[in-house]
Amino acid sequence: MKLSVSQEASKQQVIAAFAFQSDDGKALKPSGLQGDAGAFYDEAVKRGAFAGKASEILFVDTLKPVVAVVGLGTQKDFSFDGARKAYGAFASSVRLRGYSTAAAPVIKCGLDAEKIIQVAAEGALLACYSFDKYFSKKDEPVKNLAEFVLYGAEVVKYKDSFSRGMVYGEATNYCRDVDNEPANVVNPEYLAQEALKLAGGKMKVTVYGKTELKKMGANAILAVGSGSASEPKLVLMEWQGKGKGTAFVGKGITFDTGGISIKPSNSMDEMKFDKSGACTVIALMKAVKELNYAGRVVGVFGAAENMPSGSAYRPGDIIKTLSGKTIEVLNTDAEGRVLLADALAFAEKQDVDEIIDFATLTGAIVVALGDVAAGLFGNDDKLVERVRAAGEESGDRCWPMPNWPEYDEKVKSLVADVKNIGEPGVAGGHSGASFLKTFVEKTPWAHLDIAGTAWNKKPSPYRAVGATGVGVRLGLTLLERKK
Ligand code: BES
Ligand code: MN
Ligand code: ZN
Repeated sequence: MKLSVSQEASKQQVIAAFAFQSDDGKALKPSGLQGDAGAFYDEAVKRGAFAGKASEILFVDTLKPVVAVVGLGTQKDFSFDGARKAYGAFASSVRLRGYSTAAAPVIKCGLDAEKIIQVAAEGALLACYSFDKYFSKKDEPVKNLAEFVLYGAEVVKYKDSFSRGMVYGEATNYCRDVDNEPANVVNPEYLAQEALKLAGGKMKVTVYGKTELKKMGANAILAVGSGSASEPKLVLMEWQGKGKGTAFVGKGITFDTGGISIKPSNSMDEMKFDKSGACTVIALMKAVKELNYAGRVVGVFGAAENMPSGSAYRPGDIIKTLSGKTIEVLNTDAEGRVLLADALAFAEKQDVDEIIDFATLTGAIVVALGDVAAGLFGNDDKLVERVRAAGEESGDRCWPMPNWPEYDEKVKSLVADVKNIGEPGVAGGHSGASFLKTFVEKTPWAHLDIAGTAWNKKPSPYRAVGATGVGVRLGLTLLERKK
C-alpha cells in the first residue's frame, strides 16, 4: 500500500467523511457532506441506518467518488485510539469492497492534529494487515489497497508525523509476520537470523549459541532449551545512540509444549505465539534503526524451544543462573521466567538506565485482564507510570498490578534462592513478576505480561486474528517521550 499526504483529495475512488455522535446518540452531519451525498446521509440517519457509532460505516456508493461516512462515537469519548480505529475501519472496508484507492481528511476533534496524522497512518496499515502467505490458492483474492491519501491543510506541515506513523505501523506488521509463523518454520536460529538482518551502521548484533552460553554461565537459557533439537540462543542488539539507554527484553519461546510438565493438547497450537516478546523486541529495534533514533537502545532476547525429551530439564532440577543466583525448577512449564532470569541479568550488564520486558508469561494474566490490557509490573513507580502512559497513547494498553513483598514470599524456595512457581492457582501473574524481579538488581525495570494481548482469537478493529504485534508501538512511544 502506498501511503501519502496531500493538500486535497484528487482522483481516489473513495473519500471518507467522519461523523460524530451527539451525547444523546444521534449521528451528526459531517460538515463536508452536501448535495446528493448530504441528502442520502440525512435519509439514512432518518431510517436508522446510521447512528455515527465508533467504526460504523455508511457507504454512499451511488456517487463518484464514493463517499464512506465513518462514525466516531461521541466527541467527549473520542481518543487517539478512536482515530486509529476509525481510519483502520475506513481503509479495511474500502479494501474489502474491492476499491483500490482511497482518501481521508484529518479528523477535526480538538485533539492534537499532529498526533491524529500519525495515528491515521498507523490505523490504515494495521487494519489492512493479513497473514495469507500459506494459502496455495487464493479463492477470493482481497486486493490490497494500492493507495491511501491523508489530506488537509495541516498534513503537509506535519509530514514527519505521518512518516513516523508509517514506521510504527509497518514495524507492528513486521512483528506480526514473524510471530504468525509456525514453529516448524521459526526456531531460535530463525529469530537470531531476523535480528542479524538488522546489523550494520549504528546497529550491532551479537548471537550467543550453546558454547558461548555455557562459557558465560547462562545455564537457565540452556536448561529451557535442553529438550529441543534446536539450539537455544541469546541475542544482543545494540543501537549505538547517545546516553545510557533503554533495554527491551523479550521472551522468545518458539514453541511451548510445557516440557516434561507437559501441557494438555487443546489450544497447544497457540503456543507458537510464545515467542511474541522476542518478536516485539526485534521489530522495535527495526523501527529504531529506521527512525535513526538519537538515544541508545538495547534489545535482548532469549530464544529456545520448550520440549520434553530425554535431554530435557526436569522438575526438581536446581540451576545456577548467569547472575549467580539459583533456581529450583518445580514446573518446566514455567519456562519463560527461567529463560528471562538470564536475559534480564544479561541486559542489566549492558549499561542501560531502564529495562522493559515483554513476555507471554502467565495464563493468570489472561484471567485477570483478558485481551483488553497487558499486565504491568515493575520495581520503579516512575517507570511504571511512563510505560502505562505510553500504552494508553499507543493503543497497546497495559494496567499496573501491585508489587507487594507478600508476593515475593511465594517464590522463596527451601533449597535454592528462588523457585519457578508460586502457590498453585493464586496470583500467578504476580509470582511470575516477583520471580523476574529477583534477577534485576539495581535498574528501574518494568515487566509486561502480554499473554492475553499478543494474539487475537477474534478480530478487533485494527487487529486481525493472529499475532497483534503488541508492545512495538508502546516501546516506540516510550522512547519518543523519554526526556
Ligand atoms: N506460555 C505460557 C503462558 C501462557 C498460557 C500464555 C496461556 C498464553 C496463554 C507459560 O510458559 C506458562 O506455561 N505458564 C504457566 C505457569 C505455571 C506453570 C506457573 C501458566 O500460566 O499456566
Ligand atoms: Mn510454559
Ligand atoms: Zn511459555
